[in-house]
Amino acid sequence: MTLDTPTLIPGLEGVPAAESSISLVDGEGGKLYYRGYSIEDLTEGTTFEEVVALLYDGELPNQSRVNDVRQQLEAARALTDDQISLARQVATMSHPMFALQSAVAALGPKTNDFPQDDFAGATKRGIDLIAKVGHLVGIIAQATAGRPYDGPRPGESHATMMLRMITGAEPSDLHIRTMDALLNLQADHSAGNASTFTTRVVTSTKAEPEAVISAAIGALSGPAHGGANEQSLRLFDQIGSSENAEAEVPRMLDQKVKIPGVGHRVYHVKDPRSIVIQRLASQVLERQRERQLYEVALTVERIVKERIGSRGLWPNVDLFSGCVFSALDIPIDFFTPCFAASRTAGWTAHIVEQLRSGNRIFRPDQIWTGPDPRPFVPLAAR
Ligand SMILES: CC(C)(COP(=O)(O)OP(=O)(O)OC[C@H]1O[C@@H](n2cnc3c(N)ncnc32)[C@H](O)[C@@H]1OP(=O)(O)O)[C@@H](O)C(=O)NCCC(=O)NCCS
Repeated sequence: MTLDTPTLIPGLEGVPAAESSISLVDGEGGKLYYRGYSIEDLTEGTTFEEVVALLYDGELPNQSRVNDVRQQLEAARALTDDQISLARQVATMSHPMFALQSAVAALGPKTNDFPQDDFAGATKRGIDLIAKVGHLVGIIAQATAGRPYDGPRPGESHATMMLRMITGAEPSDLHIRTMDALLNLQADHSAGNASTFTTRVVTSTKAEPEAVISAAIGALSGPAHGGANEQSLRLFDQIGSSENAEAEVPRMLDQKVKIPGVGHRVYHVKDPRSIVIQRLASQVLERQRERQLYEVALTVERIVKERIGSRGLWPNVDLFSGCVFSALDIPIDFFTPCFAASRTAGWTAHIVEQLRSGNRIFRPDQIWTGPDPRPFVPLAAR
């Protein structure tokens, strides 16, 4: 059957998915802005609570607004005993990203009629989710490590709660500042990345925010997206040394293996987030293990630059982020859950923006490649 055949754009490259004023990726200039502010200015010395306020309000918060957000997040962290025990149970069954996805879906209400015009209500649900997702990551880490539940403490910032719960130790000020910076760096990345696009698509079906964020976590789990931070550190561990990388990486490139932490649909220069992460690395990489992994990452970067840099293939955020997560004592399979906790700030801000935009359901077209209509053949005659 021949219908009008539109042109297929694989991966919807260059197709605008939405209008957005939350964050802007400048792929040629290698810049990332949240609400007009450069990411370089929003990391060192800026708390996650400030960035949440900025993403939601569109303006830099003053101290009183930061205090508000901090209190809101603290109040919203609470989970029921059932929610805590479910998260602990799924933590023992699957990868932490899948456990997180299930635990977040289970936060949803018993009703399924999310109001489409209550923007204040959607904002509150969004902030609640940011708080609860961070708490859930901590619960899943405790259960995975076989530790008992030790929940949020009064007065803890989001970064402190997450680090303490994930690692089981009291974090230092340097580690808390670094965690804030990591959370801030990954909090949003325009409407077009796969998990935020998922957010917009699922929101457009009028789904509850918990269903939206659970779907976004599923999208982020893939190694082509958020899962790359885990994959890159596993690769560097396997390579073991810079000397090995000199031989192994060219071989991988010759065999057309995609190196995790390299390449980006939009950036054709070095990802600005990886530049900030390298600055963080210079402050927190104290142990021999992470220094060695970082040396491997630097060697990978040099070879990639020499071999494929001219094709616009450069390090992305995930080439160096694993070394920093690891220096904070975050276990490797919790790198992507931490990314999810951070990106929940952006995802939920996009839910509100999608609702405000009129929220027309996404329903793209397809290009039919199947057979023309044909007569049915009953089973006995086949
Ligand atoms: C991010 C990514 C999914 C973007 O994909 P994309 O825009 O669809 O790009 P493509 O997969 O079409 O790749 C285009 C070309 O670059 C090459 N390429 C892309 N990423 C590469 C990588 N990480 N290592 C080596 N070559 C790579 C592809 O092999 C392809 O080469 P070809 O034209 O000779 O076939 C892709 O670069 C990738 O898989 N990177 C590794 C995973 C990763 O780090 N993800 C985190 C992103 S923040």
